[in-house]
Amino acid sequence: MRKNTPSGSASRRSKTAVPPAPVGAALHIRPVCWGDLNAVIEMDAMVTGIAKRDYWNSLYKRYADAVATGQHFLVATSGSEVIGFVIGEVRDWEFGSPPCGWVFAIDVRPDARLLGAATQLLQSLCQSFKRAGVSKVRTLLSRENTLILSFFRSQGMMIGPFIPLEMDIEP
Ligand SMILES: CC(C)(COP(=O)(O)OP(=O)(O)OC[C@H]1O[C@@H](n2cnc3c(N)ncnc32)[C@H](O)[C@@H]1OP(=O)(O)O)[C@@H](O)C(=O)NCCC(=O)NCCS
Repeated sequence: MRKNTPSGSASRRSKTAVPPAPVGAALHIRPVCWGDLNAVIEMDAMVTGIAKRDYWNSLYKRYADAVATGQHFLVATSGSEVIGFVIGEVRDWEFGSPPCGWVFAIDVRPDARLLGAATQLLQSLCQSFKRAGVSKVRTLLSRENTLILSFFRSQGMMIGPFIPLEMDIEP
């Protein structure tokens, strides 16, 4: 049985059986609540193979009640199950650009994909961004992740004006 009090540190993916998503049920998008967090952690672990509980606990604290500051953490539910989530925020003058919305993470359970959940999550996030007064949305993704690239392209996203740079820092 799922606990409603996520705690503990990063661990390999738990072996707990995840009930199948009730994909026939209507989809709802709403702000995350504390009781959703285990489902979000399990979903992330399905994709990455690591259950990062401390990371998600701290993200929840930063984003869940922070709508007034432009931060959004939404979940998609089908029946009583959380089947997807999206996280984003409005950032002012980040990288020298006027305020715009950033999508940091989007995930849908493998057994609930290709049913429009991610599309609805992104649309809800963009509505929130619009209400916050911004008219541009950006994201950053791994060039190897063709699945997420296909999704964002399908939503109308194109290559933006920035390029990512990085280097190793000597110890
Ligand atoms: C990408 C992802 C969020 C899409 O979720 P979804 O709910 O299945 O997406 P939708 O049903 O809204 O699909 C919208 C469009 O995206 C594109 N798309 C989605 N999955 C696709 C796939 N497997 N192959 C090609 N295109 C795909 C399609 O154009 C689709 O429209 P269509 O169904 O009319 O063809 C989901 O596959 C996922 O969670 N993947 C892992 C995410 C990840 O790697 N996250 C880490 C980085 S943040």
